[in-house]
Amino acid sequence: MLGIRVLLYFGFVAVLPALCHPHTICTLIQRTAMCNSLRLSSVPSNLPQHIEELFLNQNIILKLQTGCLSGYSSLRMLSCANCFLNAVDGQVFSNSPLIENLNFADNELHKEHNQFAQSLSSLTRLRILDISGNGLTEDMVSELLQNLTSLEYLDLSRNVLLRLDEYTFRDLHQLKELNLENNVLFEIDAAFDHLKKLRRLNLAFNSLPCLVKFEMTQLVVLNASHNLIEWFITNQDITETFDLETLDLSDNRLLYFPFLPTYNRIKTLLLPNNHIGFYSHLSQNSSLNWTNSVEFYNLGGNASNVTAELWRDDLQGDISSVQLLDISVNQVRYFPQGFLQKMPHLYWLRMRSNCLESLNLTGEELPVTVYELDVSNNRLAELHADSSSISELNNLTHLNLSLNNIQKLPPRVFTTFPSLSIVDFSYNTVGLCHPTELSNSNSSACAVWTNLSTLKQLHIAGCNLNKIPPLTFNGTPLTYLDLSNNPDLHIGQGCLSGLSGTLQHLGLSNTGLQDFNFSPFKQLRFLNISKNSISVLPISLMTLNLKLLDLRDNMLSTIKPEHATVLAKQVQIVYIEGNNFNCCQLEWYRTFEKSKNLHVADHLEVTCVDLHQQRLKAGLFNSVLCGGRSTDESIFWYILLFSSVGVSMVGVSIIYFLTFRPRLLPRVIKKKCWKPTTY
Ligand SMILES: *[C@@H]1O[C@H](CO)[C@@H](O)[C@H](O)[C@H]1NC(C)=O
Ligand SMILES: *[C@@H]1O[C@H](CO)[C@@H](O)[C@H](O)[C@H]1NC(C)=O
Ligand SMILES: *[C@@H]1O[C@H](CO)[C@@H](O)[C@H](O)[C@H]1NC(C)=O
Ligand SMILES: *[C@@H]1O[C@H](CO)[C@@H](O)[C@H](O)[C@H]1NC(C)=O
Ligand SMILES: *[C@@H]1O[C@H](CO)[C@@H](O)[C@H](O)[C@H]1NC(C)=O
Ligand SMILES: *[C@@H]1O[C@H](CO)[C@@H](O)[C@H](O)[C@H]1NC(C)=O
Ligand SMILES: *[C@@H]1O[C@H](CO)[C@@H](O)[C@H](O)[C@H]1NC(C)=O
Ligand SMILES: *[C@@H]1O[C@H](CO)[C@@H](O)[C@H](O)[C@H]1NC(C)=O
Ligand SMILES: *[C@@H]1O[C@H](CO)[C@@H](O)[C@H](O)[C@H]1NC(C)=O
Ligand SMILES: *[C@@H]1O[C@H](CO)[C@@H](O)[C@H](O)[C@H]1NC(C)=O
Ligand SMILES: *[C@@H]1O[C@H](CO)[C@@H](O)[C@H](O)[C@H]1NC(C)=O
Ligand SMILES: *[C@@H]1O[C@H](CO)[C@@H](O)[C@H](O)[C@H]1NC(C)=O
Repeated sequence: MLGIRVLLYFGFVAVLPALCHPHTICTLIQRTAMCNSLRLSSVPSNLPQHIEELFLNQNIILKLQTGCLSGYSSLRMLSCANCFLNAVDGQVFSNSPLIENLNFADNELHKEHNQFAQSLSSLTRLRILDISGNGLTEDMVSELLQNLTSLEYLDLSRNVLLRLDEYTFRDLHQLKELNLENNVLFEIDAAFDHLKKLRRLNLAFNSLPCLVKFEMTQLVVLNASHNLIEWFITNQDITETFDLETLDLSDNRLLYFPFLPTYNRIKTLLLPNNHIGFYSHLSQNSSLNWTNSVEFYNLGGNASNVTAELWRDDLQGDISSVQLLDISVNQVRYFPQGFLQKMPHLYWLRMRSNCLESLNLTGEELPVTVYELDVSNNRLAELHADSSSISELNNLTHLNLSLNNIQKLPPRVFTTFPSLSIVDFSYNTVGLCHPTELSNSNSSACAVWTNLSTLKQLHIAGCNLNKIPPLTFNGTPLTYLDLSNNPDLHIGQGCLSGLSGTLQHLGLSNTGLQDFNFSPFKQLRFLNISKNSISVLPISLMTLNLKLLDLRDNMLSTIKPEHATVLAKQVQIVYIEGNNFNCCQLEWYRTFEKSKNLHVADHLEVTCVDLHQQRLKAGLFNSVLCGGRSTDESIFWYILLFSSVGVSMVGVSIIYFLTFRPRLLPRVIKKKCWKPTTY
């Protein structure tokens, strides 16, 4: 279709060359021509002369030839990404001096890079250049960028740069943003020294082994994630304030907390997935005569000698402006004395999956500004807190302590944080205190959850709970409660009574549940009662308007047809596999299948047990096979009879065939197996 249109159109031009407004297959919007994905093989020559932006992405334009843009002298922006482009003639831009923005991403420009370099040199206004994904090496890049003194934004990601030195970017005095992501860089030697205006530098997904003598005071964002970095060391001799606000060193091999600038503005410090620990306990051991200096060599054999007090912990530089510290998945056993207090603006402290052994939830240890604290999956055995009834941590809103081994805490600790909204305390071994039998002890094996007027979400899965004392959640307006994986929990009818007006999400998976009256919980939208011993669906479920109901892994044998009809109307998503459904009582399944409202999320896995105790897929089971009912049975026998008659007929005809056409058989065999010979 498209090909025909193009052909017709060319014919047109040939016949009527003087046409005033030639048709074009591109879309024109003011001074922008959109010619993306039109299978063009060259730049259209019939666009209005005054166009300023030309998009030619996803075509097959192997070469930009001299003159192909000469009609468009107002062009400011040309985008020819993903065009299989492998050559750009040296003079192609000679009549387009206004071009500021060029996008040649994902082409093959490594092939004729000299010509391409020549073409770029005439663009004295070029500010934005994207040559990502072009198979370029550092030598090619160095040539391409020669004299591009006006460039402000450069994308070199997804090329094959190995090494950068002071020549690579020597003329880019105006460069503000540089993307080098996804190359194979292993060394950078003074390459950024001339880039006095560089604000954002992306080095992610390379192979850099270290960043030492870091002295780019002008940078605001440095992304060096996903490298092999073992050391990040700032040049400590620089007394200027670094402008750095975001430092991303995630997914590297850091052993030490980075040696940051003495003065800086870092707000976001991302260090997850490294091997960071603190070692001051080693520095006190004078029998270990360990070195304090590290020497780094580059390929040229030049050494930079960085001396750092490796074993003392007070050389982190300035962390006073940090607001977000993510040090998840590292090896932190403790923080040095006063370390956290050096961050008086810390709001988010994320340290999931470390080895922290002790934590004091106090304004002495933590900055009082902390809003989110994630210490999940560490090795905490005991929590300490302020003994006063109001903590200084009055901004603490999200608290994740799950997957520790906490066995003792001050029982009223959670009642002392006035903004607490989400608590995950799952997978610890702490019970629920009886609210009327409280001691004011500093340490106990149960926690109080009464009268927490700000708490909305509570996760206490897997805490070895065995009972919920009455009134436990009174005065606590939970909307989300997860009690799952407490197999010995026996939930009495009254013990969640305080929550009936607020609860929207209730997790009771694997809690030994057999029956429960859910009808007071009018707000409930998500109910998870999987992995229990429910053999009959609680009738109270029919009174709820659920979005999601998880009934997996119970002992249901069927669902009454009238209940199925109600559920199909009132529930949106149901999970139901892993029950003992009777294959001959599957009316409910058909009701669910037919329902437009209800979606059985795991319908492909639902099984049932047939008369011979075999497990079959419920969706494939044919109720004809159930027996019992005379009509079904007779159909079954008819089928059996008919098929046996059919089989014998076929047998008879084969015998007939072979008997009366005796020569057919050898011929067939001969055709298939042997080389032709004559009979
Ligand atoms: C860059 O400028 C220098 C001096 O003006 C000139 O000698 C050189 O040829 C230019 N390079 C390119 C690629 O145009
Ligand atoms: C750093 O780069 C990686 C990879 O592109 C990206 O996922 C991450 O979000 C970036 N970090 C920041 C702080 O932008
Ligand atoms: C010092 O290190 C040695 C050797 O590892 C160890 O035996 C000793 O207990 C350490 N002393 C202290 C005080 O940590
Ligand atoms: C530490 O080691 C250096 C050389 O390895 C040695 O000269 C020095 O005496 C040692 N110091 C102590 C306290 O053992
Ligand atoms: C580093 O190498 C360069 C060039 O090889 C040389 O000029 C310079 O003096 C060397 N610097 C040091 C500190 O050795
Ligand atoms: C590095 O510094 C240490 C201690 O200051 C010194 O012993 C060593 O010789 C220096 N190495 C180089 C290459 O300058
Ligand atoms: C935490 O508090 C306990 C007792 O209140 C104290 O013994 C301990 O040293 C504190 N730990 C830290 C790391 O501050
Ligand atoms: C509490 O934390 C939030 C960040 O979520 C922050 O914007 C706010 O300033 C903090 N409040 C105080 C009093 O520190
Ligand atoms: C708490 O942390 C655990 C483990 O890191 C995570 O799986 C869980 O989703 C977190 N809880 C909340 C409420 O974010
Ligand atoms: C909860 O608050 C109510 C009313 O303010 C009070 O009577 C009750 O003692 C409090 N319960 C606990 C355990 O603090
Ligand atoms: C709780 O701790 C405070 C100070 O840490 C102490 O004065 C008080 O006696 C302790 N109370 C109990 C019951 O141990
Ligand atoms: C129900 O709870 C169990 C245990 O916590 C969990 O594995 C499952 O994913 C939950 N179901 C849904 C639908 O979220």
